[in-house]
Amino acid sequence: MSGRHCISFFYRIGLLVFISSTLVTQAAVLEVREGERIQDAVNAASPGDEILVYPGLYSETVYVDKDDITLRGVVEGDDWPHLDGKKQLNDAILYSGNGFSVEWFKITHYKGNAIMGQAGNNFSIRNNWVIDSGVYGIFPEFGENGLIENNILSGIEDAAIYVGMSDYIDVRNNQVFDNVAGIEIENSRHALVEGNLVKNNTGGILVFITPGLPIKSSYDAIIRRNFVLDNNTPNFGIPGSLVSQIPSGSGIIVMSGDDVIIEDNVITGNNNAGIIITSQDFVTEIATDTGSDPNPDRVQIRDNLMLNNGADPEGEMKLLMLTKLSTTGPDIFAYQGATDAARGSCISRRGAYRTLGVDDWADCNSPTIRANDAIAGREPSDSTRGVITKMLPEPAEPRVITEDASGAELVYQGICAGCHAYNVRLIGPPTLAIKAQYGEDADSIAAYIASPEKKRPDFPTMPPQDHLSAPMRQLVAEYMLALTN
Ligand code: HEC
Repeated sequence: MSGRHCISFFYRIGLLVFISSTLVTQAAVLEVREGERIQDAVNAASPGDEILVYPGLYSETVYVDKDDITLRGVVEGDDWPHLDGKKQLNDAILYSGNGFSVEWFKITHYKGNAIMGQAGNNFSIRNNWVIDSGVYGIFPEFGENGLIENNILSGIEDAAIYVGMSDYIDVRNNQVFDNVAGIEIENSRHALVEGNLVKNNTGGILVFITPGLPIKSSYDAIIRRNFVLDNNTPNFGIPGSLVSQIPSGSGIIVMSGDDVIIEDNVITGNNNAGIIITSQDFVTEIATDTGSDPNPDRVQIRDNLMLNNGADPEGEMKLLMLTKLSTTGPDIFAYQGATDAARGSCISRRGAYRTLGVDDWADCNSPTIRANDAIAGREPSDSTRGVITKMLPEPAEPRVITEDASGAELVYQGICAGCHAYNVRLIGPPTLAIKAQYGEDADSIAAYIASPEKKRPDFPTMPPQDHLSAPMRQLVAEYMLALTN
């Protein structure tokens, strides 16, 4: 071997070592086995790392505040990595980092959330199994650009999949059953809800504007090719909460949401009604919000297969049907502000359904509706077939939470607003009541949220927010007291 070859040989080896070591530092794989803590691996991980969690029982709350972390369960036959809250822990997985992925976990018996996002963008939540686990199942709050796919959720007291104040989200091919709300798109924009099996919940799929939240609108949702079946489970929501007012037997409810397209779904056996389009007066104990429009605009009900809905209608709808000499509820029900033709809603093939309240709606193929489509930038056809995702083509700008007033706003929107609305009772008391109680005393709020004690007999105990720094707790308390709607 000549000297020249020798040099180039060692040079090549050196290059290889150099390349592989940079790859390793870019993306390490950390492993967690039963008896170890997932949180320890998260603490040791750097952005870009993947954490493999092997089958076994884990009982902890995992916080992920770093960017680009993947938590991946290893499933071996029937053995899953199983996070169990033992009805004592509040949350299984909380993430505030951007670019977070979580998949292949079984999560049971937490009291609050199974997987909650707190202002993290570019997330992916896939192939998880969430059973009997608290108030919210999968709950990205204030996140942009996310995928929720192939998860199975049941036994959730509020919404199983709850997209809150988020944008550009796909919710596809999940199975949600025996929950109060199956899938809820709330104060969110640009959502595709497709191919889900939504069965035996109290209400199947909801597109809502809840008043009193920092994000005031909900628009641009496609609800397509879902099976929405037999959503007749009696409401077991926390008494006094908003979802506790959802009438059992409701397939799809659009409350105040705009530009919602409901197309190609199979909607059967929902005893109250198949599709309900309504303004906020549908729920009786709801306050108004001057910042948001309580009426639904430009809703399109295109071709859906609807059978056997309305066998046992409830409340107001039952009374309205009786005035039409019918004891059964309709397939499609528009209520209050939703009935007004001026709102630009439409229905295709109306003769194929039993309807109430849509007599003044246009046909979806009419020139006016076509013109609306053009304004909304939709394809001028009677189908959304060309839209395959609502996610962004490029990742959204990562959110950076700084320890100042703008960071406090993100924290409030990403965490506190999940449970506190301004003048509406959610899981926690309305902000208005808290302001009345505390006046300008932000210090006391900052102290309370670090270790909340039980105050009100008719509310759950608030989970501690001691993962926030003391200055951040102070800033977010000040932010809360300064809110005006
Ligand atoms: C998981 C739901 C949840 C989240 C998230 C949440 N809270 Fe609460 N909060 C509650 C509940 C429930 C109560 C009522 C507790 C009680 O009365 O025992 C409450 C009560 C409060 C109170 C009233 C305390 C009192 O003295 O009566 C304040 C103040 C408060 N929360 C602030 C916050 C702030 C700030 C955040 C965000 C950092 C936040 N909460 C996040 C559920 C939540």
